[in-house]
Amino acid sequence: MARRRIIAGNWKMNKTPSEAVALCAELKDLVKNDAVDVVYCVPAIDIVPVVEAVKGTNVHVGAENFYIEDKGAFTGEISAPMLKDAGVEYIIIGHSERRDIFGENDILINQKVKKAFASGLKPILCCGESPTLRKAGTYKEWIERQITWDLDGVTADQVKELVIAYEPIWAIGTGETATADQAEEVCALIRELIAKLYDQATADAVRIQYGGSMNAGNAAELLSKANIDGGLIGGASLKPDFGQIVNA
Ligand code: PGA
Repeated sequence: MARRRIIAGNWKMNKTPSEAVALCAELKDLVKNDAVDVVYCVPAIDIVPVVEAVKGTNVHVGAENFYIEDKGAFTGEISAPMLKDAGVEYIIIGHSERRDIFGENDILINQKVKKAFASGLKPILCCGESPTLRKAGTYKEWIERQITWDLDGVTADQVKELVIAYEPIWAIGTGETATADQAEEVCALIRELIAKLYDQATADAVRIQYGGSMNAGNAAELLSKANIDGGLIGGASLKPDFGQIVNA
């Protein structure tokens, strides 16, 4: 089954609003590719100017975080309806930096996935193991547990619209990329798990990205794998290299 490729930039805590607009202009012609979904996941304060800057292009806008309530006394937070109203289509959920630095657990991540769908946002759900679990050889069980918890109560129709990003923590921002075979092994495992939890049609539809030091040099090989439908790109999404990844 042909799944549409999705290449998403995760800008993390980079780019002021004016720098964000400049980056959109720099990348505009480089990221043209009608066969690929191109997404910029940007800091909250950059959303409004970036939505404006990519109007009329093939770029979709994503957010990096939100809270599960629609509104109210949650100082410092931003809600799904706010994101949606601003023109956001995708939302990163469960990134390892949110899990490890900000203490988000699978209960909250599961609530966020369900809230995102209920609000009309498409989640990019991240999973991935630490270097310790990779060395211990228990990474497969870990990934299965994360996905199973994070998708509790999520319907098959929703999972068909879901993007799952496999991001081994030891490869994020380290320059140490998983080999294409290592990445494919886990992405295939995730697809098998979705078939087990749901059915084969759902597993065939869900899009699975690899993330972790993906760059212009290694993207083509990673993306050539049967179960890797795209990439979630941190460092290289802030540079012209991102265009090469989109067109890899
Ligand atoms: P990286 O980040 O490409 O800089 O390794 C990927 C991510 O954290 O999404």
